[in-house]
Amino acid sequence: MPMELKDHLMQSAAAVDAALDRFLPKAASRPATIHRAMRYTVFAGGKRLRPALCLAAAEACGGRIADAMPAACAVELMHTYSLVHDDLPSMDDDDLRRGRPTCHTVFGEGMAVLCGDALLTQAFAVIATIRGTKRHPASAFVAELAAAGDSRRLIGGQVMDLEGEGRRLTKRDLTRIHEAKTAALIIASLRLGGMSADATPAKLDALGRFGRCLGLAFQVIDDILDITQSTEVLGKTAGKDVAMEKTTYPAVIGLAASKREAARLTRAAMRALDPLGRRASRLRELALHLLQRDH
Ligand code: IPE
Ligand code: IPE
Ligand code: MG
Ligand code: MG
Ligand code: MG
Repeated sequence: MPMELKDHLMQSAAAVDAALDRFLPKAASRPATIHRAMRYTVFAGGKRLRPALCLAAAEACGGRIADAMPAACAVELMHTYSLVHDDLPSMDDDDLRRGRPTCHTVFGEGMAVLCGDALLTQAFAVIATIRGTKRHPASAFVAELAAAGDSRRLIGGQVMDLEGEGRRLTKRDLTRIHEAKTAALIIASLRLGGMSADATPAKLDALGRFGRCLGLAFQVIDDILDITQSTEVLGKTAGKDVAMEKTTYPAVIGLAASKREAARLTRAAMRALDPLGRRASRLRELALHLLQRDH
């Protein structure tokens, strides 16, 4: 990764962490257990890619980082909640996440369910602090986040993922799952960043098309890394997809073809950014970085 991008990602993650710290109840707020659980999971060292995309989309549309920050934090809170629930014994049954024991391993299953509920609710409290723009009222931001997390998008994708365990799915089915469980929140991260910069509908469409291709590539790469990387590097248990009989791109089309598919999707994502011109250079760098990531 270019040094400049590395520094940028570290700085953006630090700014997001500082804002998340302000947005979350203090660890000592009563009842303390839930606030400790929320902070344990949020500050476990996630890559903060969705906030980085949100902030870069704001920049690409001529906006200010500070105006996009509530949206960046809200998408990270929704993402983190989805991971807490994804790891539960009744779902993917994982005991390692972001290099630490999973929330339910440390705090118990009941507390992890509640922790996810609380993070999701907090995501909406945070997005509701956003000031609307000329084109986009505050309610549009709330609606955008809700749509990404609803029973057709993020939850719908998780439903199809669970129901697909142990079954042979087609590539088309798999794309539908990835669009819903992963791409929807990535699309929303980008569009919310654009909206905070008062982007035109045409620019939001471009961000949406970029996000769809990038989100699909993101999950293909996640599935590839699950079989090619070590648990240490991933910070989550490697080899889980085969163990859980998940349908993944590598399982359906093989590893080499999956890598080609991720590269193809990344190229398509790049093309979608054309209408945004040079200001979108950070988004282009991020897309290339996501393709080359090792965890
Ligand atoms: C993992 O997302 C879950 C998927 C949607 C594939 P990330 O790889 O962004 O996880 P963190 O936030 O860095 O832990
Ligand atoms: C997770 O997909 C997608 C979510 C919406 C949480 P995975 O189940 O592949 O994510 P990891 O590999 O556990 O991070
Ligand atoms: Mg899963
Ligand atoms: Mg999982
Ligand atoms: Mg995975």
